[in-house]
Amino acid sequence: MRIVCPMNAILAPRPLWPIRLARRVVSPALFDFWATRLNPLWTLEQPLARLVSRSQASRDAVTLVLRPNRHWQGMLPGQHVNVGVEIEGRRLVRSYSPTPLDDGSLAITVKAIAGGLVSGHLARDARIGDLISLDTAFGDMVLPGKTDDLLLLAAGSGITPMRALLRSLAARGMPIKVDLMYWARSRDELCFVDELDALAAAHPRLHVRHLLTREGAEPDPRVDTVPLDAIAALADRRVLACGPGGFVQAARHRLDGQVAHFDAEAFSMPAAAAAGDEGEVQVQLARSGRTVQLSRGMSLLEGLEAQGIRPRHGCRMGICNTCACGRQSGTTRQLLTGDLSSEPSSQVRLCISAPSTDLILDL
Ligand SMILES: Cc1cc2nc3c(=O)[nH]c(=O)nc-3n(C[C@H](O)[C@H](O)[C@H](O)COP(=O)(O)OP(=O)(O)OC[C@H]3O[C@@H](n4cnc5c(N)ncnc54)[C@H](O)[C@@H]3O)c2cc1C
Ligand code: FES
Repeated sequence: MRIVCPMNAILAPRPLWPIRLARRVVSPALFDFWATRLNPLWTLEQPLARLVSRSQASRDAVTLVLRPNRHWQGMLPGQHVNVGVEIEGRRLVRSYSPTPLDDGSLAITVKAIAGGLVSGHLARDARIGDLISLDTAFGDMVLPGKTDDLLLLAAGSGITPMRALLRSLAARGMPIKVDLMYWARSRDELCFVDELDALAAAHPRLHVRHLLTREGAEPDPRVDTVPLDAIAALADRRVLACGPGGFVQAARHRLDGQVAHFDAEAFSMPAAAAAGDEGEVQVQLARSGRTVQLSRGMSLLEGLEAQGIRPRHGCRMGICNTCACGRQSGTTRQLLTGDLSSEPSSQVRLCISAPSTDLILDL
């Protein structure tokens, strides 16, 4: 589906004949190489954005406002975008969940992860004017036309898609009941507190609860034990959960089967996913003719990267499908579920699949 961002439609000039001609006679990569030397935002196809403002969102998170070029195709609130930055000469890609703003810009809020390459770069080093590449938006945690009442569960940076959904619902007059439960370790790690409280004050159908796991209440209000009696008609709710892998797993365990629908997206692997088979296997890369030894306890993506091979990827969490690759033979283990799969000539997502036996991949 092509989602047209209304402001882009207004701001973007119609394709000019030189661009149409260029598309016929040179490759997009070659055109981009020369055109970006004249103006860094001129590309034939690649969506790029310029960083136009930054502000502190919490003690360890910043909000960056990005103004995309005309190739950005827009997004639905709740979706994510793979963002590319260049760090020490290497392009690194990570996913973020933007809030689309009225003027066509996107606001991403990035929590700095200890030792994190891209989050550290965006939170501390990115400067106004920097260019950031964007890929097509993805993700299914969006609002259907008519929806059940919602229960939104967010932990840490999992609040970002919820913020986009709530702003969109507020713009439509909050047509349904929504309860947001938002976990952080401490008060100074909460983002958008004033904005969320103001939305709740303006819309009686919206209830917002902040839950702090390292401050205040005893025992800690964890998602697997926190009382949910205050949520009216829980069984009829559609639940959307977003946050670290362990949080999403615990939320699913608690609520799956007890509510009308349960949808979740994890921003990081649950700790248990890392533990797995031991030893190494041989992985043959059919296209490049290389054969490498990879560890059974690691995702194929991480294992290949450790060998200096750079497969295409985006979210690294099995959501965007960018890393999907043909498996000609062998068995892989899905890291999120533990399921084994050995059907020949099928697709595997390298970021959430670990090798169980020797493999042949279409790489
Ligand atoms: C669909 C999707 C949407 C996302 N949206 C947002 C968003 O809006 N805002 C945001 O701040 N982040 C978001 N993330 C997380 C983001 O993509 C990166 O994973 C995060 O910024 C860390 O990247 P890094 O390069 O700094 O860390 P890396 O250098 O990749 O990793 C450094 C260390 O941190 C661990 N780690 C990686 N990611 C996380 C994490 N999310 N939580 C805890 N530990 C982690 C790694 O296991 C590793 O040990 C999203 C992730 C997904 C999959
Ligand atoms: S990188 Fe997104 S599915 Fe693997």
